[in-house]
Amino acid sequence: MPGIVVVGAQWGDEGKGKVTDLLAEHGDAVVRFQGGNNAGHTIVRDGVEWKLHLIPSGILHAGKQCVIGNGVVIDPKVLIDELEALRAKRIDVSSLRVSANAHLIMPYHLLLDSAGEAKLGQLQIGTTRRGIGPCYADKAARLGIRVQDLLDEKILKKKILAAMEPKRLSLRPFEKDPSLDLKSMIDEHLTYGHRLERHIADTSKLLWELLEGGASVIFEGAQGAMLDIDHGTYPFVTSSNPVAGAACVGTGIGPRAIDEVWGVSKAYTTRVGAGPFPSELHEELGDEIRRKGGEFGTTTGRPRRTGWLDLVALRYAARLNTLNALAITKLDVLSGFQTVQVCTSYEGAEGATFEDFPYHQTVLHHTTARLTELAGWSEDLGECRSLSDLPTAASEYLQFIEAATGVPIALVGVGPGREQVIWTDAGRQTLLATDGGQAAGQLNVAHSRP
Ligand code: IMP
Repeated sequence: MPGIVVVGAQWGDEGKGKVTDLLAEHGDAVVRFQGGNNAGHTIVRDGVEWKLHLIPSGILHAGKQCVIGNGVVIDPKVLIDELEALRAKRIDVSSLRVSANAHLIMPYHLLLDSAGEAKLGQLQIGTTRRGIGPCYADKAARLGIRVQDLLDEKILKKKILAAMEPKRLSLRPFEKDPSLDLKSMIDEHLTYGHRLERHIADTSKLLWELLEGGASVIFEGAQGAMLDIDHGTYPFVTSSNPVAGAACVGTGIGPRAIDEVWGVSKAYTTRVGAGPFPSELHEELGDEIRRKGGEFGTTTGRPRRTGWLDLVALRYAARLNTLNALAITKLDVLSGFQTVQVCTSYEGAEGATFEDFPYHQTVLHHTTARLTELAGWSEDLGECRSLSDLPTAASEYLQFIEAATGVPIALVGVGPGREQVIWTDAGRQTLLATDGGQAAGQLNVAHSRP
């Protein structure tokens, strides 16, 4: 397995961190390719919870090469804080390499993100207010400040001035904000440069060399396909491309380096922020899933909206990403429901049926979910380690997902712990390719389908 991309197949928060972490154990390098600290990964290891926003989760494995690619937008203060926190817990962070071409989230991006949301009022997107949109906007406008600029005082000053000039009007309400003081902004960023210098590199070349040398590289996506700026529920999306194709652009490697694309989906659906969500559950059932699944944002703490699994959206994500494997997380959360439902098609305003995700925003906004009812199960799944340990109804639920999407399930999550997973034959095949067969031998589980 030289190149495997792990992407979110829903609206983010699918549990990509855990899946990447499990694959990283057997791979050589982990690289992030888009988004910024709007993402948040929670990984539970040996009872300790780790929350990472920027640094790839592979950092928790000694000896893995970790990379932040050029497509990521970096708040340097957040990155430094994250490095410090890991160092304080005796995690070796020396392997982290940060692309010199990645763009920086600057103090004015944070202010503009919040101001933009306030201006939109009722129509607001519900961003994480981490400055993501304004930073990508400056990148596209060629007014961005890049990681490499931190190492050159003259250039840094020139670029900050050029970037702030067209924003003068919109920044006027923040004139007195101390974060906008030019001198301290420059000084602060030069200090960031010193502190990050040893990590800054030509990561495109580094990855090319790793891949050429036969290393296994995991490309870790943030957010999910439905939040993709081109293919998601625009304008209620993030400002980058969380789909697998972006792994190439966001790291500087070519498409032929990608061998596998895994999509991660919860056994149900969640979304944070505004925007259409056809299978959303309101009232008690939605609350129950939120409570059982602990559905509160890692980054902002916001309660997530919850709903049944949306197979129309998942099929769409499978197509956009050419998924060859699915990782279904949090199946255990659905235990205890007499029946479970899945959204198998949408109904439009005039009763039309949509089997495919509608491309037109207005149409999508007026759709409701057509649900198919499946048998539920009451058993706790936390101890299941093979498909044959699962209650029949839970197995049938997984089979229904595979049949509806045409994508084999490689991995099933049955609890928050990293050991609380079921590897299927499809997942084992990937691990075999990852580390030449050692991985599969280490997995002390039965693998055949019941
Ligand atoms: P932004 O990425 O902060 O600009 O937010 C744009 C939209 O993407 C909002 O609806 C956010 O809630 C959503 N979003 C951004 N990052 C994540 C994530 O990691 N998980 C879930 N939703 C996210």
